[in-house]
Amino acid sequence: MLTSLGDLFTTKRVIVTVGCGGVGKTTIAAALALAAARRGRRVLCLTIDPAKRLATSLGLREMAHEAQEIDPALWRTEGEGTLTAMMLDVRGTFDALVTRYSSNPATRDRILNNRIYKEVSGSLAGTPEYMAMEKLYALRDDPRYDLIVLDTPPTSNALDFLEAPDKMIEAVDSPAIQAFVGAFERTGKLSLNLLSKAMAKVLSGLGTFTGADFLSQVAEFLADLQSLFGGFRERASKVRDALMGKEVAFVVVSSPDPMAVGEAMFFVDHLQKHQMNAEALVMNRVRQAEDLPTPSADRLAGLLSDASIPGAADLGASFSRAWRDMATWARRDAFEVTRARREMASVPRHVVVPTLDEDVYDLVALGHVAARLV
Ligand SMILES: Nc1ncnc2c1ncn2[C@@H]1O[C@H](COP(=O)(O)OP(=O)(O)OP(=O)(O)O)[C@@H](O)[C@H]1O
Ligand SMILES: [Mg+2]
Repeated sequence: MLTSLGDLFTTKRVIVTVGCGGVGKTTIAAALALAAARRGRRVLCLTIDPAKRLATSLGLREMAHEAQEIDPALWRTEGEGTLTAMMLDVRGTFDALVTRYSSNPATRDRILNNRIYKEVSGSLAGTPEYMAMEKLYALRDDPRYDLIVLDTPPTSNALDFLEAPDKMIEAVDSPAIQAFVGAFERTGKLSLNLLSKAMAKVLSGLGTFTGADFLSQVAEFLADLQSLFGGFRERASKVRDALMGKEVAFVVVSSPDPMAVGEAMFFVDHLQKHQMNAEALVMNRVRQAEDLPTPSADRLAGLLSDASIPGAADLGASFSRAWRDMATWARRDAFEVTRARREMASVPRHVVVPTLDEDVYDLVALGHVAARLV
């Protein structure tokens, strides 16, 4: 079992950090990008998380939808690596897909300007997840980068992300969409009577459209969109296949919380079942006790109590308690790290990143995390 992720920087083209909410995916993705760039790679860090903190920790004022190169003076220690950051533009990526698969410019413009499209393209369930994959696929062959590190969105269900391409295919082929299209085709214009009540309800929840206007917008949208479906379906299956490629490494991030470890196990299992390469497990935010043995803490507490300083006895007792708590947490975390190592032994690299004293908000702190990863 390896304890560094460094070899992935030269053997892989894409690294994807995955894991449940709040475990540190974004932080680990940025730290990996930094570490790889310091080793001379030309790295693109692609994120979907608009958190300003990531931008700051990378030395940027804010994240942008365009690629922004980070000034090497801020981070480069040696070599010729480059570090570029980009925030995924969900709507823009969807627009690009529509543009690509529209049969002609008129259809393209009609879709892009359609109110239904505008309403749903950024917020449809699963769209951000799918668009992240889509963008990755589009950037895969970009000659400006040796390595792309993709940070995945804060999904409520971690699996949503990996299943996004399949879900896109399913959505295109779904009975609901097909019924929609059918209802439109038979009459030449959309009839709500032909749609199930449920579908009608979904539609009416979409926005504040007036009846007739709404119907014509839906009809137009569906007719146009249908011409894209073939392209979408094919594209989504290519995106899915690309994720199984040898050059893609998944890095599963977990905290030492028992629930998070459980999710990580489930996740590794899912990756492996679907021929996706779970190359590393990062146990992040692991609490570690200083190497001071507890008796010393007690002795210090005793000294404080004995000193004839007002309030020293209370201080000594609180110190002792805090010390014990810390040691307890550290033991629990160590237990979870061991469990993770045992239960996910099939993952070839295991790395532990301790909890830093403060949130990771600058390149220096990011550098500390990076050092742990390699
Ligand atoms: N090792 C660490 N030590 C201290 N703070 C950390 C560490 N790793 C991450 N953090 C902090 O934890 C918080 C959550 O981290 P991060 O945003 O990377 O998680 P995430 O998995 O991307 O979350 P989300 O699922 O919401 O996207 C941030 O404030 C970050 O600075
Ligand atoms: Mg994040």
